[in-house]
Amino acid sequence: MAPLNTMIANGVKHAAYASAQAARILWYTGHYAAGRRLMGPLTEPGEAPYAEEFLPLDRQRLKDRFRAAFHQDWKNIEAGRYSMPAELRRLPSLPGLRKQSRDYIRDSRKVARRKHARGHSEVLTRPNTKKYPRYFLQNFHYQTDGWLTVASAERYDMQVETLFTGAAGPMRRASLPLIGAALRGKDAATATLLDLGCGGGRFLQGVKENWPQLNVTALDLSPAYLGKARASLGRWNDVRYVEANAEATGLESGSYDVVTAVYLFHELPPKVRLAVAAEIARLLKPGGALILADTIQYGDEPGLDILLENFPRGFHEPYYDSYCRANLVGLFAEAGLAPGGETISFLTKASVFKKPLP
Ligand SMILES: C[S@@+](CC[C@H](N)C(=O)[O-])C[C@H]1O[C@@H](n2cnc3c(N)ncnc32)[C@H](O)[C@@H]1O
Repeated sequence: MAPLNTMIANGVKHAAYASAQAARILWYTGHYAAGRRLMGPLTEPGEAPYAEEFLPLDRQRLKDRFRAAFHQDWKNIEAGRYSMPAELRRLPSLPGLRKQSRDYIRDSRKVARRKHARGHSEVLTRPNTKKYPRYFLQNFHYQTDGWLTVASAERYDMQVETLFTGAAGPMRRASLPLIGAALRGKDAATATLLDLGCGGGRFLQGVKENWPQLNVTALDLSPAYLGKARASLGRWNDVRYVEANAEATGLESGSYDVVTAVYLFHELPPKVRLAVAAEIARLLKPGGALILADTIQYGDEPGLDILLENFPRGFHEPYYDSYCRANLVGLFAEAGLAPGGETISFLTKASVFKKPLP
């Protein structure tokens, strides 16, 4: 049995974790409820009411899996697989929270109008098509400005956390032990990690908090999101930022021990997924690992399939359904990568694919 002082210290740490998470869940659930009210009915006149469409949902399982994600998150922290995240150690600033809340609510009204008008191509303009692929130029989830503005990048984390009522943190962190396993036996000071579609850098914050010496490259096609990543990772001045398409990054072949892609693949058309998979295989060192964290797929969680089916009805997610049906093992096998295990946290599945040694 652990000494008494260790048990007391652990109890205090657990209480701090639980109270910080409870406050976050309340905050995001409140905003989720407000956002849903503002959105009005998610279905159009003549369609079955949304509540009815959710009838096959196993609500008990949904609650259990939500709780399990936090339980697993705590167990990982307790076991030292990763440290207590900074977002749970620091009290958020009140003015910051007020601003976040006001912006989220104001924007939800715009999202609702866009949704009811089925407006998802506001960013498909002639100047943009010269710079970006068409699939990228959409108002994904009916978001304001697509991926293209600083305001969108500033709002993104709040929107994701609200969508998952506070579980996005634990879901992203479930990939950290997989990174730990991929780096085992390697010197972090010489090892390399590339995060494709890094967004505002939320995932990489967790990576750098745990492996501060790791040589990290943050890549995104959106200059606005990459700028947000640069700001949020500012205290680590060795991060490299690359504005590029994940299909053809221009980075050196065989230069990464680990490549991560968090919530990127479900935003890509099937053909583009193939191109990105081939690019990842090119970039990995032999023996290196891809850690792909994205939505769970059909059949992963019996009783929750209806959530996956309904998500692209409520939000503009043109490639989501095909991702949920994709054969990931086949997709990465075509690129020469072999499956190396997976872990599920609430609605996110993190899968490992390895580049074989010669
Ligand atoms: C759903 S967000 C995920 C962001 C982040 N990884 C996270 O954990 O939340 C998708 C990100 O991928 C970027 N993206 C989409 N298509 C891309 C492409 N072809 N190449 C590089 N980045 C891309 C977007 O700009 C956006 O920042």
